[in-house]
Amino acid sequence: MSLKRIIVTNAKGGCGKTTITTNIASHYALQGRTVRLFDHDAQGSSLAWINRRPEDAAPITGVDASKNSDHRLTRSWQLRVPSETDIALIDSPAGTDITEMTSLFQHHDSVLIPVLPSPIDIHATAHFIKALLTTGGTRQQMIRLAVVANRVRKNTIMYHSLERFLFSLNIPFITSLRDTQLYAKAIEMGVGVQELATARNKTDKEQWAPVFRWLDTPVVTRTAPVTSIFNRFEQ
Ligand SMILES: Nc1ncnc2c1ncn2[C@@H]1O[C@H](COP(=O)(O)OP(=O)(O)OP(=O)(O)O)[C@@H](O)[C@H]1O
Ligand SMILES: [Mg+2]
Repeated sequence: MSLKRIIVTNAKGGCGKTTITTNIASHYALQGRTVRLFDHDAQGSSLAWINRRPEDAAPITGVDASKNSDHRLTRSWQLRVPSETDIALIDSPAGTDITEMTSLFQHHDSVLIPVLPSPIDIHATAHFIKALLTTGGTRQQMIRLAVVANRVRKNTIMYHSLERFLFSLNIPFITSLRDTQLYAKAIEMGVGVQELATARNKTDKEQWAPVFRWLDTPVVTRTAPVTSIFNRFEQ
């Protein structure tokens, strides 16, 4: 199997980057894939989650990518992906510098952007996506982007305005994850929601299915040229 690289990012804090990264890691680890999670956030939440994984859980390797912890190694050596890796996941920090972020992009990366249903988050995410699409790294690499709505309470006014915003983007809006304590519980236990031994996660498993379908679709190219996506922001 060839290496799949997945980046979870949004400059906005608290939108669910770590929650989404850890759940993707858990899914592929459960499938028996070799998963390497690069935590670019100095808070180290993803690494702390890996450290809390139960001993008998499917293994996930964590890499502290927030700093060059061993100065004898070059940064690119430290961040290299060993050939046996199936899935390389990147959890990124809030307030991420857009140029630094896009410099990480490689051909055929899948980039997931979580967004919360709140006016501040919608505004910040629109700004972030615009910056992402107009930065060299995104234009040059054939990456593909998708948005995931997170902490959703359907049938609320805010959810409807988030939905309108996401459909206006012309980039895939692949799923809505509900707001549930199960995510905090899973983070605390070092597992993904699908690893929780409860029937209460049935809805969550269903809500994740489109994410894995999208990630497992072979990457050919972006569905729309960057310029046509960008024009939407100009209207
Ligand atoms: N779908 C959800 N339902 C309920 N709580 C959630 C959900 N997604 C995330 N949370 C909670 O929201 C908080 C922020 O989530 P998370 O840490 O994943 O965001 P983040 O984008 O990684 O934050 P940061 O920018 O600080 O790295 C956490 O307490 C998490 O448990
Ligand atoms: Mg985080």
